[in-house]
Amino acid sequence: MADSTLIKGGRVIDPSQGLDAIGDVLITDGVVVSAGAKVNDAPKDCKVIDATGLVVTPGFIDLHVHLREPGQEDKETVATGTLAAVRGGFTTICAMPNTEPPMDNAAVIRQVLDAAKQTGLARVLPIGCATRGRKGKELADMAELAAAGAIGFSDDGSPIADPGLMRNALSYSTTTGLPVINHCEEPSLAKDGVLHEGWVASRLGLPGQPAAAEENMVARDIELVALTGGRLHVAHISTAGTLELVRRAKERGLPVTAEVTPHHLILTEEWALGTIEEGAGELTAPDKFAPLTNAAYDTRAKVNPPLRTEDDTEALAAGLRDGIIDAIATDHAPHTSTDKACTMQEAAFGISGLETAFGMVNSLVDRGDIDLPTAIERLTAGPARVLGEAYQPWIGTLKPGASGDVTVLDPDTEWVVDSATFASKGRNTPVDGITLKGLVMKTIVGGRLVHEAAKANA
Ligand code: DOR
Repeated sequence: MADSTLIKGGRVIDPSQGLDAIGDVLITDGVVVSAGAKVNDAPKDCKVIDATGLVVTPGFIDLHVHLREPGQEDKETVATGTLAAVRGGFTTICAMPNTEPPMDNAAVIRQVLDAAKQTGLARVLPIGCATRGRKGKELADMAELAAAGAIGFSDDGSPIADPGLMRNALSYSTTTGLPVINHCEEPSLAKDGVLHEGWVASRLGLPGQPAAAEENMVARDIELVALTGGRLHVAHISTAGTLELVRRAKERGLPVTAEVTPHHLILTEEWALGTIEEGAGELTAPDKFAPLTNAAYDTRAKVNPPLRTEDDTEALAAGLRDGIIDAIATDHAPHTSTDKACTMQEAAFGISGLETAFGMVNSLVDRGDIDLPTAIERLTAGPARVLGEAYQPWIGTLKPGASGDVTVLDPDTEWVVDSATFASKGRNTPVDGITLKGLVMKTIVGGRLVHEAAKANA
């Protein structure tokens, strides 16, 4: 007998088909049958989810997640990372290859895919290494990685620094049609910078990374796209200057796409200053005139690329609205507490981002920087477009025949981030204790309910 689920009476927003209407979503045997229209003839034994007063969207897609398995299971595993994903409303996540060993061969890719299948929560799409061992010396076997299921190639965490090698990566990628996803950071400019090269780094006496370190490599890569015809996806863009480079590349008709993280959209370099009593608990930057406390710095705000300035966050929000930025991706980077309970220079780069993503993005909606359907587009159809035509009919959409991946949201519920309750092993978030508005109520993968918000947390 068919297995059906009916999600009833919600505001169904599916930007892939310009849909924004009160209605139902019917899923049968893991596949969307209809979305938007009222269903009057639901199958008899159908499970019913009441979504009255809630928002119903295609399952979110995250192009940038660090699952740490194999090799760093103290930070995260495929099981804990995919549970964190579905709690955050993500039904598909792309796994970065900076594992140990790195995902530079078919065997490691298969290992990650098998672990994801066994856990059975979010879908996992692996990203293969661009270079062997992520060492930046010679290309990985991109054809082998593509055959094993890689959806793109990246040395994320490290840039593909050698311009000749990047040229070859883009050239070879044309044979598979898959993007090269570069972590753009010119090493001779970023050096050992731990924060943005700005006033906070100066005040804390720390080396900074200038915006130009990112922009330099993005500009280089765009010219290499023009030279080779390869597809470039720019990971975690963080500066207004990068946004302009991507805008001009798109105007030239080049195959360049870009993503932004919730933290680069909303948080600024001031967050590295640590907790200052005034304003604590709110999503506003620490006051730069407040006296430094015992917690003069906050390693949880150390991330690569670094949190930048308000001019940058404003430009990125505008780029997200305009569509210059194709996707919101978390760069979920879980670390252990000891990786962060140390000096700023010793601390690992990264923010655990899956479980706070919607609440953070919704703060942009709440303050009128972007409308909800556009924000949802950048979490669904936008990333599906980056993945390409093979994925678009299947995920990031509620068109008939798509996989029954659905996220149910309450944009009005306020909740306080408590990292101790995270499914992720990584509790490293600078927004711990902050009140966010917008909660993921339910996540459905292939017609199966895999997450339901605990009432206590709502
Ligand atoms: O902050 C970051 N952490 N940026 C990266 O590019 C890598 C990531 C990690 O793997 O921890």
